Amino acid sequence: VNHLLGIKDLTEEDIQLIFQTADHFKEVINRPIKKVPSLRDITIANIFFENSTRTKLSFELAEKRLSADVVNFSSSNSSVKKGETLLDTVNNILSMKVDMVVMRHSSPGAAHFLSRHINANIVNAGDGTHEHPTQALLDTYSIREQIQEIKGKKVAIIGDILHSRVALSNIYALKKLGAEVMVCGPATLLPKYISDLGVKTSWDVKEALEWCDVANILRIQLERQQLKYFPSLREYSLYYGVDRKLLDSIGKEIIVMHPGPINRGVEISSDVADSKQSIILNQVENGVAIRMAVLYLLAQKRQN
Ligand code: CP
Repeated sequence: VNHLLGIKDLTEEDIQLIFQTADHFKEVINRPIKKVPSLRDITIANIFFENSTRTKLSFELAEKRLSADVVNFSSSNSSVKKGETLLDTVNNILSMKVDMVVMRHSSPGAAHFLSRHINANIVNAGDGTHEHPTQALLDTYSIREQIQEIKGKKVAIIGDILHSRVALSNIYALKKLGAEVMVCGPATLLPKYISDLGVKTSWDVKEALEWCDVANILRIQLERQQLKYFPSLREYSLYYGVDRKLLDSIGKEIIVMHPGPINRGVEISSDVADSKQSIILNQVENGVAIRMAVLYLLAQKRQN
């Protein structure tokens, strides 16, 4: 059984195949009839142990556009609250003849754990601070859409790198596609292992913005913070917040990204998030085509 557990396991060719497949599906979902029968007779369970707006709705729309049967599970109103384990929960759902599982969980490695214990395709929709592979695929796909060739381009990832699965998956994807990557944030929010991944580091947001062609701005992950690491939001906004004045001071026009959800006025100001430089809603739009591509390619492998 094949899975998408992380970007670390993919080759550049895998990523390019996902992009080419997403190009096709992006064209499909812009037609008056947005649906194709590719996943007819496939049943997919979206199993979310953590909150989500974009990822959950985007997967559900992708599955429906591919004509899959879809069931949705949120731990917050489930029997997990009565003490049922992850494995029992998933095995019970799978016994209802489910073929694929899309799972978000707060524990790093949760999707890998599941892949060793169940007989269904698993797509990791975010596992704690570890990976968020479809986010990195839609982010790099969105960069490619804007500037065609990612190879040789400079991408700065700015924010709470320590707690961000989006940062790690983006680093893997960007490096595999030949981009140069810089991570930027307060020293306490840059993990020690990060330079082993072949990225530059900076504590100076202006330096990062002057260096890059694309800035991917991340939110402070309050839900994962331990107090000892955490600058106050006011302090963070003062030293690392990206606003119009700062962007205008760097003397060139860069592309601005954010995976969402945005904390307006903290890591990014509204006059940047809503500006022509921002491709934040393009990222969300592309998420559906990318997730259609991932599910379609996994389903193809089931048949071979
Ligand atoms: N980008 C992202 O994962 O957003 P959600 O948490 O709303 O799914």
